[in-house]
Amino acid sequence: MRTTIVSEVLHRNGLQAVPIATDALTFGAWMERHQAKAQALITRFVPQHHPLVPQLHEAMHYAAAMGGKRVRPLLVWAAGDCVQADPQALDRAACAVELVHAYSLVHDDLPCMDDDVLRRGQPTTHVRFGEALALLAGDALQALAYEVLTPDDGLAPALQARLCALLARASGADGMAGGQTLDIFATGGAVSGDDLMHMHSRKTGALLKASVLMGAACGGVNATHQAQTFTALQTYGEVIGLAFQVVDDILDVTADSATLGKTPGKDAQQNKSTYVSALGLDAARALAHTLRDKAQAALDALPPAQRAASQRLRELADLIVLREH
Ligand code: IPE
Ligand code: IPE
Ligand code: MG
Ligand code: MG
Ligand code: MG
Repeated sequence: MRTTIVSEVLHRNGLQAVPIATDALTFGAWMERHQAKAQALITRFVPQHHPLVPQLHEAMHYAAAMGGKRVRPLLVWAAGDCVQADPQALDRAACAVELVHAYSLVHDDLPCMDDDVLRRGQPTTHVRFGEALALLAGDALQALAYEVLTPDDGLAPALQARLCALLARASGADGMAGGQTLDIFATGGAVSGDDLMHMHSRKTGALLKASVLMGAACGGVNATHQAQTFTALQTYGEVIGLAFQVVDDILDVTADSATLGKTPGKDAQQNKSTYVSALGLDAARALAHTLRDKAQAALDALPPAQRAASQRLRELADLIVLREH
């Protein structure tokens, strides 16, 4: 149902009606096809039933497979499109980053963090399975992400190592976990604009940026090989990653529970430091649009053939800023 809402927003903004030259699919059709692919991959790697520890697998499946927009996998595939990436590597990268994201949500919702009871329109994992299983499901989803990236065959060892390094850096103290720490210590206090930017770029932006760079890595792009492409995609990922959390802060204030699939108003209730609390709603909205423009402008610096293939990334920047959930 929430996918339909996104499609409607894109349609209203004139974004869905244009067939794309690269594969003649509208953005809405491309997105739905790839969301289904993400779902199939997650179900394959996180089956609901498993004889060894059934309770843990059920909790992992619940956390990872039950809904979600799949924005991070979409970014992996869209970046991969620009650089003619290896499809098998892209699928594994897309799945791995979504598993880490799912784990981060389970832990983010725990009573010791944001204490949320609703996620993706259903009870949070700890409400459904208890805190101990939620904690362990998060741990196991994170470990599984690295298993997905390191198959016995089919993926070159150097690429496996590169993908693991990108994902680990984006998840750890310099990325998501570090950002979540800043979030907790900023709660209830006054933070500067710079502090807010660093916090949001880490807790949320890092994983979105990593999604783009993992897609690029699957096409052999890194800081020294195809440096112009790398720099353009890195800037795009950084900027759109920040925009994603600015919009998340806005939606916490403006969306209703049925659309959001979460409990709205939690940030103000918990005295969180957000872009809305720091700037106000209008300025936060203006910032999100400025960041969207900046992310799309970064793609103009791609070499011509890759610029032509970056349409999906442009459309994803629109989606991230115009979304209603
Ligand atoms: C929500 O992420 C948490 C943040 C990092 C802001 P999403 O909005 O991508 O959540 P799902 O995966 O679609 O549920
Ligand atoms: C969460 O940010 C970022 C994560 C690393 C999970 P929020 O706490 O604002 O995300 P929601 O609003 O609960 O999805
Ligand atoms: Mg949080
Ligand atoms: Mg939260
Ligand atoms: Mg939020």
